[in-house]
Amino acid sequence: VNDAHAAPRSVGVVVVAAGSGTRLGADVPKAFVQVAGRSLLSYAVERVTQVAHLARLVIVVPEGHGTATALGDVAPVPEGTVVVPGGAERTDSVRAGLAEVGEVDIVLIHDAARAFTPVAVFDRVVAAVAAGASGAVPGLPVVDTIKAVDADGTITGTPDRAGLRAVQTPQGFDADVLRAAYASGLSATDDAALVETLGHHVRVVAGDPLAFKVTTPEDLARAQRLVASWAASVD
Ligand code: C5P
Repeated sequence: VNDAHAAPRSVGVVVVAAGSGTRLGADVPKAFVQVAGRSLLSYAVERVTQVAHLARLVIVVPEGHGTATALGDVAPVPEGTVVVPGGAERTDSVRAGLAEVGEVDIVLIHDAARAFTPVAVFDRVVAAVAAGASGAVPGLPVVDTIKAVDADGTITGTPDRAGLRAVQTPQGFDADVLRAAYASGLSATDDAALVETLGHHVRVVAGDPLAFKVTTPEDLARAQRLVASWAASVD
């Protein structure tokens, strides 16, 4: 019986915001960096709270920022939001968040640094998992030719660009599958990679340029221009 389109399924979202601001040259955690007077995290949370069937929101913050009350100044969060401290690597932070996500059908893992990801991207990811995929990630076609290289910089291969995607977040999964992947103790910069390793099918759905990750000062400048353009179009 294919009941993929049956009752809506509950969605838990883990927003990982425990990274440092090192590459950005910031003196606060990256997710707390301000754009037009608001933290990156607050932009991310604003979008996440619009996700359909959201049953649980977990925010993973740097050590020492671990209460919803303390977070109040940085980003208003809806009642019932769980705030937990993260770890040294992104994987550790995801694992900490996953432990708090509770009984939901679908889990989305989202980078706070991808603060401007449109709600439609979340919806596409959820729809793909609800339709039966073990996992779904947003991705964009690759514009550059990508080379595989060895330690000396000698090219070892040139994959066909048509078969490549640059992936973003939110990455969404069947909750049981993701828990199993993290229970394996493996580590990856990408949640989908863990799930793929276990042999599950993960699909790529259409990403969005607005889901870019704020990593460098240039990215931050792009974020500032973006928000300024929205403000200008409202006037
Ligand atoms: O460092 P990078 O930009 O790849 O991090 C992606 C996301 O993972 C960011 O939102 C960052 O806050 C989060 N992260 C985390 N814990 C870490 C490292 C990164 O929550 N130890």
